Amino acid sequence: MIYSRIAGTGGYLPPRVMTNDEFARRLDTSDAWIRERTGIVSRHIADESQGSSDLALAASRNALQAAGIAADQIDLIIVATSTPDFVFPSTATLLQAKLGIKGCAAFDMQAVCSGFVYGLATADSFIKSKMASCALVVGAEVFSRILDWNDRGTCVLFGDGAGAVVLAAGAKPGIHASRLHADGSQANLLCVPGNISRGRIVGSPFLQMNGQGVFKFAVRVLEESARETVAAAGMTLDDVDWLIPHQANVRILEATARRLKLPLEKLIVTVDHHGNTSAASVPLALDECVRSGKIRGGHRVLMQGVGGGFTWGSTLVTL
Ligand code: ACO
Repeated sequence: MIYSRIAGTGGYLPPRVMTNDEFARRLDTSDAWIRERTGIVSRHIADESQGSSDLALAASRNALQAAGIAADQIDLIIVATSTPDFVFPSTATLLQAKLGIKGCAAFDMQAVCSGFVYGLATADSFIKSKMASCALVVGAEVFSRILDWNDRGTCVLFGDGAGAVVLAAGAKPGIHASRLHADGSQANLLCVPGNISRGRIVGSPFLQMNGQGVFKFAVRVLEESARETVAAAGMTLDDVDWLIPHQANVRILEATARRLKLPLEKLIVTVDHHGNTSAASVPLALDECVRSGKIRGGHRVLMQGVGGGFTWGSTLVTL
């Protein structure tokens, strides 16, 4: 039996840090409101010259270095993003060129904040079916480009960044189980309902959200997805060392841990200093914990995505 295992992790955050006070200086909001309702203290914002592929490149180089793998050993690239550089070609093919390689399969995964977990499950399936043996799975986003910076209800929530893992074939797991879901009837809860047609923007180019609707939906499906995925792996929640849910809002994260009866010490929280980086949030959190030594080889980690679509899913992995 072939399994896939995480051989290395990487992350990249743009240098510019934006605090809550910066919002409070020009909008009717405050550091206290944002902290209390979301847990967010600061986020990173990309420079105008940086696209998702640039952030993905920096994170990928870090992951390749951590794995001790040369770029030309990669035979599959999946970039999870809702903020691609272009309509096409995909950010994954742009990343491939920036890595100086060619030939391997490369495509984008569009599942919004669940994109990284969707990408990881897809790469795992490629490896198990021998379609690939060494995959680069990246979440990269510049959500700052799709925010209405005058809408206090949404612009304070998000940040930019990228996270990456190298997923390599191995004799033992690795990834134990993944479960993915979607419900397109909930599309209006969170969307950017615009597109480009005949040289013009049709609809809205800005993120729109029903905050309370998202909150309730996210907490419910994160709980269900955690239980389903752990059971699919033949394990129980007691076997989970660390829970890394999509970093949307600290209240969603803590509510999920409580419903699962997981001690809060097992809950990874980075949304306080990253904001919500959509598809980048889970791999960025994983990389930060691996580099700090908090998550180590042998630890069992449950990673979870939930986001626009609506989409959701979980992956249980032993590092
Ligand atoms: N500063 C001050 N006041 C604000 C702000 C702000 N930044 N944003 C909204 N308000 C106001 C509203 O206008 C409203 O004012 P009103 O009563 O005068 O109309 C008041 O605060 C309460 O608004 P609610 O939307 O009811 O506030 P709520 O307690 O629900 O908090 C929040 C809003 C933080 C968005 C919450 O609903 C939430 O966390 N939802 C989850 C959304 C989320 O995490 N989205 C991330 C993307 S989705 C994903 O990644 C899965």
